[in-house]
Amino acid sequence: MTTPSDLLAFLDAAARQPRSVGAIAPSGPALCRRLAQIVPRTHVSTVVELGAGTGSVSDAIGRRLLPGSRHLAVEIDERLADRLRARRPDLDVVVADAADLRAILRERGVHRVDAVVSGLPWSLFPAAVQQRILTAVADVLAPGAGFATFAYLHALPLAGARGLRRLLDDTFDEVVASASVWRNLPPALTYTCRRPTARSTWATPCVPTAYPAWL
Ligand SMILES: C[S@@+](CC[C@H](N)C(=O)[O-])C[C@H]1O[C@@H](n2cnc3c(N)ncnc32)[C@H](O)[C@@H]1O
Repeated sequence: MTTPSDLLAFLDAAARQPRSVGAIAPSGPALCRRLAQIVPRTHVSTVVELGAGTGSVSDAIGRRLLPGSRHLAVEIDERLADRLRARRPDLDVVVADAADLRAILRERGVHRVDAVVSGLPWSLFPAAVQQRILTAVADVLAPGAGFATFAYLHALPLAGARGLRRLLDDTFDEVVASASVWRNLPPALTYTCRRPTARSTWATPCVPTAYPAWL
């Protein structure tokens, strides 16, 4: 649950780094639960969370993980990461750029993960960054593993969100958009993605570094 102190920390980060937070409040319980459903409850697993923020999604993930599971939370903002580490000492909180996911896992001796959950502000990223992160995600998923992320409804017509949807469809064989989660500020939907497509094509970037203005 988001406390008033979480909200203040989130607003502080949004004011300091508006180009990397990209939200007006932490994700609400309904959205967090929906995202966390990608985390298997059937076996001990390794899960990566990208853009953990104040930890609202981290808590929903934690409620699903079986004892002995591993939860890595990647957060680029050092203050948010320090705060989350203090509140959730059971998490491995890494201050890093999600684009470096492969290196982050390599340093920890992790080769494959059972789920990746993203809270990243995709619409703020150029297309090349979106692709780099999604390629890394697809690369580290174990067979049968899945990826979940969200998009705000009001932003869906914008170039960044449309570009993300195209990249998801290129990167995964199955992309399922959820029903709208109205009880969130702002309302959102989730994408659940499985079965990465042919990896050989990922080595060559095939999207422009920025979307043309008319998109
Ligand atoms: C929209 S907030 C979501 C926070 C939280 N997961 C939630 O749902 O409430 C986006 C978070 O992603 C972090 N972030 C932005 N760019 C990032 C990057 N390249 N790598 C890791 N974290 C990033 C921001 O600092 C922020 O905490």
